[in-house]
Amino acid sequence: MTTNPARVADKAGSAVAWETTSAAETHALGKALGEACVEREVMALVGPLGAGKTCLVRGIAEGLGVPTELVTSPTFVLIHEYAGRLALYHADLYRLEERDAVNGLGLEEYTETPGVTVIEWAERAPGVLPHDHLWITLDHLGGDRRRVALHPRGARSAELVARAVARLAAQLRTGGA
Ligand SMILES: Nc1ncnc2c1ncn2[C@@H]1O[C@H](COP(=O)(O)OP(=O)(O)OP(=O)(O)O)[C@@H](O)[C@H]1O
Ligand SMILES: [Mg+2]
Repeated sequence: MTTNPARVADKAGSAVAWETTSAAETHALGKALGEACVEREVMALVGPLGAGKTCLVRGIAEGLGVPTELVTSPTFVLIHEYAGRLALYHADLYRLEERDAVNGLGLEEYTETPGVTVIEWAERAPGVLPHDHLWITLDHLGGDRRRVALHPRGARSAELVARAVARLAAQLRTGGA
């Protein structure tokens, strides 16, 4: 991972993208995001099976002071809540049977509650996302390489990205991750 994330054109503003070469690097990116969270944040994670969404969520959890070993993909329960510096609400919509089923989950209430809502397979329920959210895409680049791109969808999420980028740059400069 480089200290200068590639800035790529994005139709809704500026996105920041990294190429990670291990799960540990994706975790470190998540940790910086978790540390950068304030009050209430909403992150939508989109990417194919095994792309590293849950890996990133574990990093976010660590950045929020949630014990990362507790964080697993929600299965029968589609949303898990964890206590940390800020609460973490972790949803995984992979097993959502039909689009209408999302209405019964109360996801919108989570996104309006103080704390950090992170939704895997968020493209399955676009209607629950607040106007301002951080859209995160993860893609396989072969082997252990992944492309992780942060697409802020508003001023609030742009500030979250700016804080996370500053933290990562500082950590990489000092050799810590
Ligand atoms: N650069 C990388 N970033 C993240 N994970 C990586 C990377 N390289 C290898 N891996 C491995 O890929 C897997 C990613 O699994 P993870 O559960 O995080 O994916 P996911 O996107 O949540 O998948 P699912 O859609 O099944 O929930 C892990 O086994 C992890 O160790
Ligand atoms: Mg997952």
